[in-house]
Amino acid sequence: MLKIRIPASTANLGPGFDTLGMALNLYNYLEVNTKTNGFKIEVFGEGKDYIPKDENNIVYKMMNTIFNRARFKPNGLSIKLENNIPIARGLGSSAAAIVGGALAANLLIPNPLSLEELLLIVTEFEGHPDNVAPALIGGLISSIYTTEKIIYKKINPPQDLNLVVAIPDYTLSTKVARNALPQNIPLQDAVFNIGYSTLLVLALQEGDYNLLGQVMKDKIHQPYRLPLVPGMNEVFKAALQAGAISVALSGSGPTLIAFSQNNSEIIGQAMQNAFLQYDISCQYKILKPDLNGAIVINNQ
Ligand code: HSE
Repeated sequence: MLKIRIPASTANLGPGFDTLGMALNLYNYLEVNTKTNGFKIEVFGEGKDYIPKDENNIVYKMMNTIFNRARFKPNGLSIKLENNIPIARGLGSSAAAIVGGALAANLLIPNPLSLEELLLIVTEFEGHPDNVAPALIGGLISSIYTTEKIIYKKINPPQDLNLVVAIPDYTLSTKVARNALPQNIPLQDAVFNIGYSTLLVLALQEGDYNLLGQVMKDKIHQPYRLPLVPGMNEVFKAALQAGAISVALSGSGPTLIAFSQNNSEIIGQAMQNAFLQYDISCQYKILKPDLNGAIVINNQ
C-alpha cells in the first residue's frame, strides 16, 4: 500500500500573484492500492460528502493522466483520501489533490518522471504553479510558468514564523475569484507589485520581520476581490492591531492569513471577531511553514 502526505499551501502572499506560495503544516493523506480488482474511491474528512468518488475525482484524473502518458494500466485501483485541508477556501486543497495523485501515480509507473517533469505536469493541470509547487516541494517557492518548464527557487522561511489562517465557513471557487480580476492592469500597479514581491521574498529569506511588516502589499488582485470577502480590510486591520507582522488574502480566498511571531492566539481571535461583525463565522488555525512538501509515508 502506498501512502502519501501532502501539505496545504497559501499562494500569492500579497504581491506575488500566481508566482509565490508557501507550504503549511496542515496535511491531506492519500492511500493508493493497485493490488486489488475494480475501482473504488473513499473520502474521509473535509469534502467527504461532495468530492466525486468516480472518474471525475481530481486525484484519479491526475493519476490517470500520468498512467496514460506512461502507457501503464493497473489491474485495479483503490484510492482513499483523508482530507484535513478545507475545500475551496484558498488553502490549496485542489493543489494537494493534484500533487498527491501525481506523486502516487509516478511511484507506480515503470519509468518515473523527474521532479521537474512532475512539477510541469501538475502546473499544467492546475493552471498556475503557486500552490502546486510548494505542495510538491515544500517551503516558500517563487516560480514562473513557461510553456516548456517551471523555473523556480525554494526558500526556507524562518521556523519561528506563525501563520494564522482565518477560514470563513463559506467556499469561494478560484474560478469565480479569477473572473473578478481585470484582463489588464496599469503599469504603475505592475511596478508596485514587482517591487513589493521582490522585497517580500528577501524579507522571508532573511527572516527580516521589520521588512516583512512593510512589504506584504498588493494592487493587482486583492482590491478586485474585496467584494468576494466581506470585511477583508477590517479583518486585516484587527490582525495588525493584535500584533500581526503582515496580512494577506490566502490564494484566491476567502481565507485570510496573518504572519506573526507572537500573540498568535490573540490575532486569531481578533480576526474571528472582525469577521463576525460581517456575520461571517470562521475558524482559525495557527500553522507553521512546511519544509518537506509531499512525502511518501509508506510504500510496501
Ligand atoms: N494565484 C491563484 C489566484 C491562487 O490568486 O487566483 C489560487 O489558486
